[in-house]
Amino acid sequence: MNGYRRPQPGEHPEYLTPEYRSTRLRAPDRPLMLMPHTLSEITGPVYGHERIGRLDHDLTRQHAGEPLGERIVVTGRVLDGDGRPVRDSLVEVWQCNAAGRYAHAADRHPAPLDPNFTGAGRCLTDAEGRYRFVTIKPGAYPWQNHDNAWRPAHIHFSLFGPAFATRLVTQMYFPGDPLFGQDPIFQSVRDPAARERMIARFDLGTTEPEWALGYQFDIVLRGREATPMET
Ligand SMILES: [Fe+2]
Repeated sequence: MNGYRRPQPGEHPEYLTPEYRSTRLRAPDRPLMLMPHTLSEITGPVYGHERIGRLDHDLTRQHAGEPLGERIVVTGRVLDGDGRPVRDSLVEVWQCNAAGRYAHAADRHPAPLDPNFTGAGRCLTDAEGRYRFVTIKPGAYPWQNHDNAWRPAHIHFSLFGPAFATRLVTQMYFPGDPLFGQDPIFQSVRDPAARERMIARFDLGTTEPEWALGYQFDIVLRGREATPMET
C-alpha cells in the first residue's frame, strides 16, 4: 500500500496559535503520535455524479430570487502534490452573505439575513480537476476573538480528494483585503508564500462580461508517497 505524504513542518498552521484564541483550548498538549495509514484512509471515499444536483454549484439560484451582492465566479483546479489533476472529487463551500451574516442559528451578528441566500454549495471536479462555483462575494464579519476583530472576506472550502488521508478544509481569501494584517487565522500560516496560496487571483478571463467577476483559486492536496526507486 502506498501511503500519502506527511505534511512538512510549516506547511500548515501550528495547532497552537495563541492569538487565535480557540486554538488555546483545542491544541494537543501532549506529543503527537505517528499513525500509520490504513487501507480505509488511502482508498475512497467515492462519490457518484448522481448525488450532486444540477444547480448545487450555483449559490445564486437556490431560491426564488437572486441574492444581493456582487456576483462572482470562483473556479480553479484541484491538484495533488505532483501537479496531477484530482478528478471526480467532491468540493464543498460555505460562506456568509454579502452583509457578513451566516444563515446559521449561532450567528448573532446584527447584519441582515438574505432570504435568497443560504451560502452552501458543492460540485465534483471534472477530468482536469477543475471545479466552478457561482456565488456572491461574502462580506467581512466581527468574531470577538480580540478587541474589534473582523474576519477578512473568505469562502470556506472542504475537499475530500481521492482518499480520507487527502481531506483538506481551508479558506479562500480575496486579493488586497485590508483585514489580513489583524486576522490571527490568516496570520496563523507563518510562511508568507503559503499565505499567498490561500488568496484567489482576480482573473479578467474568468470574468463574464455584464454579469460576474471571476476569480481563480487552485488547491493542492497531499500527494502519494513516491515509490522508492532501486538502482
Ligand atoms: Fe467564516
